[in-house]
Amino acid sequence: MEQFVIKGGRPLVGTVEIGGAKNAALAILAASLMTDETVTIDNLPNVTDINALLEAIERIGGHIERTGPHTIKLNCAHIDSFNIDCECIRKIRASYYLLGALLGRYKRATVPLPGGCNIGNRPIDLHLKGFRSLGAKIDISHGMIIADSDNLIGSHIYLDSVSVGATINIMMAASMAKGNTVIENAAKEPHVVDTANFLNTMGANIKGAGTDVIRIRGVEKLHGTDYSIIPDQIEAGTFMFAVAAAGGDVTIKNVIPKHLESISAKLVEVGCEVTEFDDSVRIECKGRLSHTQVRTLPYPGFPTDMQPQMVVAIGMGDGTSIVTESIFENRFKYVDELTKMGASIKVEGNTAIINGVEGYTGARVAAPDLRAGAALVIAGLAADGITVIDDITFVERGYEGIERKLKNLGALIEKVTTEKQIQKFILKVS
Ligand code: EPZ
Repeated sequence: MEQFVIKGGRPLVGTVEIGGAKNAALAILAASLMTDETVTIDNLPNVTDINALLEAIERIGGHIERTGPHTIKLNCAHIDSFNIDCECIRKIRASYYLLGALLGRYKRATVPLPGGCNIGNRPIDLHLKGFRSLGAKIDISHGMIIADSDNLIGSHIYLDSVSVGATINIMMAASMAKGNTVIENAAKEPHVVDTANFLNTMGANIKGAGTDVIRIRGVEKLHGTDYSIIPDQIEAGTFMFAVAAAGGDVTIKNVIPKHLESISAKLVEVGCEVTEFDDSVRIECKGRLSHTQVRTLPYPGFPTDMQPQMVVAIGMGDGTSIVTESIFENRFKYVDELTKMGASIKVEGNTAIINGVEGYTGARVAAPDLRAGAALVIAGLAADGITVIDDITFVERGYEGIERKLKNLGALIEKVTTEKQIQKFILKVS
């Protein structure tokens, strides 16, 4: 079992390069199934969630050629199964995108009910409502979702709540339905826009992505394309909050500053300096942060995927902060772990009341999910002494080479697998 061991207390200084957005890449890979022609995808992050989806695509007949560390050529002309049931796909949430992609292209798909991080009750009723509205018949049996239809017909779909996954999934299926579809109360996240742009370069006709009304005119056929995935807003934000917590001066390259606005605004409010350039941001933080109030919201609000990282930083701020998690009800599970490091946080329902402490102290903790795991890494970087983080496979689902990137910024962090390696690290850094 791999772990991170960290000696905290050093500011982060230098430059870090951000990879492609995991959550955009998951949707885009699934959408690549919708053509017989070859698709070239660049800026693909090399993380375990992506590799699990690639494995599933290969198992049903997709042909994948890695032409660079972050580039693949994908050809899905010979898909020979519409029933996807492998261990790899059961682990990830984004398995649901195979449903929208296969249903759109082949009018049928059987996919396991999605797995992914346990951050709350994560229904997919809105996805299924959308598919049904397009004319698909959906059954759930033995843990599998079975979708099929003679013909998908464009429809008017109102999403009862804003869902990134449902918006993208319905958009994919509707791209190859007959006639026009309108999705109202659509999610506006950058990865919704990126997936729409990708589908449009394949010949789809999608308008309005990035607003709350998306209009899709179905086409009969999609074709191959070359596409580069947008930078990962959440990876960038994670490094920004790492600097906020540990202090330092870091330039974060290969980002779209507009996607980081809610994160940058919060960091400025608590006392950091953020300078935006064309495709990079510089963050400088010294001294203690101040307190704040935050509510997670769909884009362009403050992202739920940044909530744990932010709580770790303001957990050492001056005064009392209040954070309300309005998207997922179970996203404060890391608080018990952070308490072992000296944090003073009380969770009541979906609200955390955070009494800022002067600093954290190193401890042995375990990552409960992807973003919470990243938040514990940040806590370790800021803490006095040694922190050991168990269950880092969660972190590796969404962050490529996080320890390598942090080391380049001066952090003392190592990936280890044995107690002996932990002791060796402690000797080396003390
Ligand atoms: C996506 O999950 C991301 N995952 C999540 O990233 C992210 O936290 C989330 O969007 C919100 O931004 C992927 O892209 C693979 P939703 P998704 O549908 O699509 C409710 C990470 O750390 N809802 O936007 O599953 C739902 O319960 C992860 O990278 C329904 O009620 O999220 C939630 O309260 C974790 N019915 C809200 O909508 C549905 O059918 C938003 O969920 C669907 C959702």
